[in-house]
Amino acid sequence: MLAQTKIQWDSDLIRRYDLAGPRYTSYPTALQFENSTDSRAILTSAINERDPSRPLSLYIHIPFCAHVCYYCGCNKVVTADRSRAQPYLDTLIKEIKMRGEELGKSQVVDQLHWGGGTPTFISDEQTKLLMETLRENFNLRDDDEGDYAIEIDPREMSEGRLQLLRNLGFNRISIGVQDVNPEVQKKVNRVQSLEMTTALLEEARDLGFRSINVDLIYGLPLQTEESFAETLDRILELRPDRLSVFNYAHLPERFKPQRRINADELPDAVTKLAIHHQSIDKLTSAGYRNIGMDHFALPEDTLTRHQDEGTLHRNFQGYTTHSECDLIGLGVSAISQIGDYYLQNSPDITKYDAGINAEGSAISKEYKMNDDDKIRRAVITRLICDFQLNFADQSKELGIQFQEYFADELRLLEPMVNDGLIHMNEKGLDVTAAGRLLIRRVCMTFDAYINHSEQRFSRII
Ligand SMILES: C[S@@+](CC[C@H](N)C(=O)[O-])C[C@H]1O[C@@H](n2cnc3c(N)ncnc32)[C@H](O)[C@@H]1O
Ligand code: SF4
Repeated sequence: MLAQTKIQWDSDLIRRYDLAGPRYTSYPTALQFENSTDSRAILTSAINERDPSRPLSLYIHIPFCAHVCYYCGCNKVVTADRSRAQPYLDTLIKEIKMRGEELGKSQVVDQLHWGGGTPTFISDEQTKLLMETLRENFNLRDDDEGDYAIEIDPREMSEGRLQLLRNLGFNRISIGVQDVNPEVQKKVNRVQSLEMTTALLEEARDLGFRSINVDLIYGLPLQTEESFAETLDRILELRPDRLSVFNYAHLPERFKPQRRINADELPDAVTKLAIHHQSIDKLTSAGYRNIGMDHFALPEDTLTRHQDEGTLHRNFQGYTTHSECDLIGLGVSAISQIGDYYLQNSPDITKYDAGINAEGSAISKEYKMNDDDKIRRAVITRLICDFQLNFADQSKELGIQFQEYFADELRLLEPMVNDGLIHMNEKGLDVTAAGRLLIRRVCMTFDAYINHSEQRFSRII
């Protein structure tokens, strides 16, 4: 299958096509969501219209962090005051109970993800209570067959916490590392020794966590090709199952902590491209598959296997093997995708709290997909996961005549064909080894909303 093709680096093409572009964790993207005027009504419609036999994916957002990392673009509340967690958890538990009651237990929870902020900010007791509440109100699996993941900041792990998480049913972890170089770490206020990361990873393996992901970021202050090569080498020695190598998005006007980063110390565009190139070379030479975008996985990982089988999917958590799930997001800023609906909770913790306590729902943004959205979403998903499209298969699956329906888009792709980003004939299209790095650009062609929102996304590479 095409997914195994080695990436081919062409700096000229990358510069030419590296426009701002969405990451397509949803289609339409969150920019299309509309302000919600009746939070309860839209939630009720989504729940009533759903297919209650579909499995569920639950996302739980814990927004607190004890320290601020200057690069961070996540929805978080930085506080040293641990007592702030309890009132938030009280509201979150209320939301869990209400959603559990409305949804019933027919939908098995195949995927669970605790993200943040820092989910391990809360205490052992709070962690236990939260998981027990989830088990009481949703149909969580107890056979260790689901993918139950938690994001971990190694600096926030108390003695015995990992064992507790494993006992509670988590079987995947994602570890934030970013860079192992002490000087880079100081510049971004995230000092975390390699020993700490290593110990956590080894403990996770001993406890039987079946998938370990490590997050790195390139484009941080003081990073050079040499320094990041060292970071990659050290992390490769630990051989995590998955690696995310994110491009640092520097948007200080939007994310206040980033104003503490000195822009003069950021690597320039040429260096960033070189670091990116080197990361792909090093990781693929070490046996990892570049799944797509910023994600890498070992050949035996389920992401790799699903990509080979053409059953990979993409949702708000990135690439996933769970295509058929309804996604229920719980907590401040969390996004749900139920049937044709996208629903987002308020990103403001005070409004979230008020919404849940007063109305039983804190949705601030909503969107209901129309038929065209569903068709385009299916096409973009296949492109971003498989890097290829078979027109006859798509026509059959989507109930359209693909070449007619997308005649304009196929014409728009012609310059990319001429530039060698894609191969196209009457049967279908393949994204070439050179085009894989610019997959967002290819997907943008099928995005009906792109002209309105283009300028607000971060750069592709
Ligand atoms: C919610 S954090 C991970 C969990 C935990 N809070 C931690 O930091 O270890 C998710 C990941 O987003 C990535 N990230 C955060 N801000 C970013 C930015 N501005 N650009 C690129 N990646 C970013 C980091 O790699 C981070 O590990
Ligand atoms: S990277 Fe993680 S720990 Fe750091 S501020 Fe962001 S969410 Fe918090």
